[in-house]
Amino acid sequence: MTKTVYIETYGCQMNQYDSELVKSILIKENYEIVTDETLADVVMLNTCTVRDNADRKVMNRVHEIKNRRKPDPVLVGVLGCMATNFKTKLLENPSLRIDFIAGPDSYKELPRLIDEVSTTGDKSFDVTLSEFETYSDVDPSREDGANAWIAIMRGCNNFCTFCVVPYTRGRERSRTPESVIQEVKRLVAAGFSQVTLLGQNVNSYRHETTDFTELMAMVSDVPGVRRIRFTSPHPKDFPKKLLNLMAERPNICNQIHLPLQAGNTRVLDAMNRTYAKEEFLALVDDIRATIPGVALSTDIIVGFPTETAEEFEDTMDVVRRVRFDAAYMFKYSERPNTLAARRLKDDIPEDEKTRRIVQLVDTQRPIYFEKNKELLGTIQEILIDSESTKKNTGEFQGRTDCNRVVIIPPGDYRQGDYISVKITDVTVSVLKGMPV
Ligand code: 5AD
Ligand code: SF4
Repeated sequence: MTKTVYIETYGCQMNQYDSELVKSILIKENYEIVTDETLADVVMLNTCTVRDNADRKVMNRVHEIKNRRKPDPVLVGVLGCMATNFKTKLLENPSLRIDFIAGPDSYKELPRLIDEVSTTGDKSFDVTLSEFETYSDVDPSREDGANAWIAIMRGCNNFCTFCVVPYTRGRERSRTPESVIQEVKRLVAAGFSQVTLLGQNVNSYRHETTDFTELMAMVSDVPGVRRIRFTSPHPKDFPKKLLNLMAERPNICNQIHLPLQAGNTRVLDAMNRTYAKEEFLALVDDIRATIPGVALSTDIIVGFPTETAEEFEDTMDVVRRVRFDAAYMFKYSERPNTLAARRLKDDIPEDEKTRRIVQLVDTQRPIYFEKNKELLGTIQEILIDSESTKKNTGEFQGRTDCNRVVIIPPGDYRQGDYISVKITDVTVSVLKGMPV
């Protein structure tokens, strides 16, 4: 009998891509993917463990799913980074009632794991990490959309001291350029015109003699690819030749996500980021000189152990000087086993972390507004990514080359359409446009 499966995805874009791989693997084994959790025989949560609140959300969801379905049996599986981080502890906890777990390198084992628990009733698991698995032979099952994610590498070797990813996703390994290009060509044939190349640290991509810039050039050469994005590069070794390529190629978007994490050099050193404040600022200058109009976004952690209020001022200083187009800010969250957790006490009080976040948000707000005002009256090409469903107004939303969301009035548009719009109205957080 066909089993029905529902997958819920948490965390980063890599997880979204992985869920598409999982769907493809299960469809091949005759599973049916459903979009209603209450109709599923098997519910899988593809999880993130990068911060503590991510863990908690998932624990609550497992309870909710099991309780709602009483007395019907439903199998609940935990996939992804929580599986490799907590391993069989997740199964030993009787109050959690998880039936199987699979780590990021074990998705090909899922049909066997589900069979095992359904036939024997014994909980099943596979959380081994691989040095080789890249899933190059699996064609992800994507929803129709404007953008397709493509993982070009997996794992991370950087060991930033706060980060659990090297432990949950294992060692760095890159796909062959041929398999990436084949995937891009299939995507174009299926109607996608924007691809986003993913890796924990894309500048480390290397397969034999092909590096990341060469891979980008190959993707950019595929006919039909109108927009290419990538995330994330590491500021420590951003290649100059990639900047030159971005400046030359119209189909590589003028947008870079460049995680700062902290502005103070001593804190950066304690984080093992291996760049100094001045080096980050110099890189930003170089990026802006090479690619005029480029949009820069970043990630920032406040309250890393031992970070003083004065050292935090360096983060504020970088934020004021760089004027990021988007900044994602996080309170430091101690993750078991990381170097920071082993060496340093999580010593910045919660209310001080909150104070620092609030200060950053207050600094960014006028920057966002001014940047939006600069766009007023300009013509932008947007790629329609969906109907903007928030208020059910029939309005559509699309993204500019720089990845800014623009809302436009209802009309006869389809996901994937490119439309020229004039920016007519801006607030701190929203750009509105009219087709021209
Ligand atoms: N605490 C807070 N934020 C973290 N991040 C990664 N690990 C932690 C942690 N332990 C943030 C970083 C990273 C983003 C994906 O999540 O800013 O760039
Ligand atoms: Fe974590 Fe650093 Fe690797 Fe990013 S580069 S995944 S922050 S260890």
